[in-house]
Amino acid sequence: MNANSPSAAPAAARPRVLLLHGPNLNLLGERDHATYGSTTLRDVEERTTALGLELGAEVRCAQSNSEGALIDLVHATRSGDDGIVFNPGAYAHYSYALRDAIEAVAGLGIPCVEVHISNVHAREPFRHTSVTAPVCQGMVSGHGIFGYELALRSVLHRVAEWRAARPGA
Ligand code: DQA
Repeated sequence: MNANSPSAAPAAARPRVLLLHGPNLNLLGERDHATYGSTTLRDVEERTTALGLELGAEVRCAQSNSEGALIDLVHATRSGDDGIVFNPGAYAHYSYALRDAIEAVAGLGIPCVEVHISNVHAREPFRHTSVTAPVCQGMVSGHGIFGYELALRSVLHRVAEWRAARPGA
């Protein structure tokens, strides 16, 4: 390892990101290949974790099919996470409770980037609305699994900006 490489950063300074998945995303790889491809959730988690390491970040992963559990996982980012990459699945289209949770932690300096594997705007009208995206830093949709790379890079960029603006925080 090169001493100047990002992964040589001391563990305490390493940004920590929660990769969070909502309902039905545990079925990735089995579910509707034409829309979501054949990559499994475990593959997505492994690839994103590996990219995080390359970028000097720690990625921890969680998935739940239940709204309350997802809200608890978003709240738990207050114990040491710096950002969230979140595919809320169908909850993105109607969960004001999740939106409030994301907004609350964003207000504490924990930004969230929303990911949708499919292009939600090219699908049924009910998918065209995301009630969670407006309180996220941004939303990536329609880039397939590559969207997670875009989202992770984006959230880490924001964390670096946030830290640079608050040295010693
Ligand atoms: C999804 C899009 C949602 O509309 C859908 O309910 C999902 C997956 C996506 O990744 O494209 O479960 O979030």
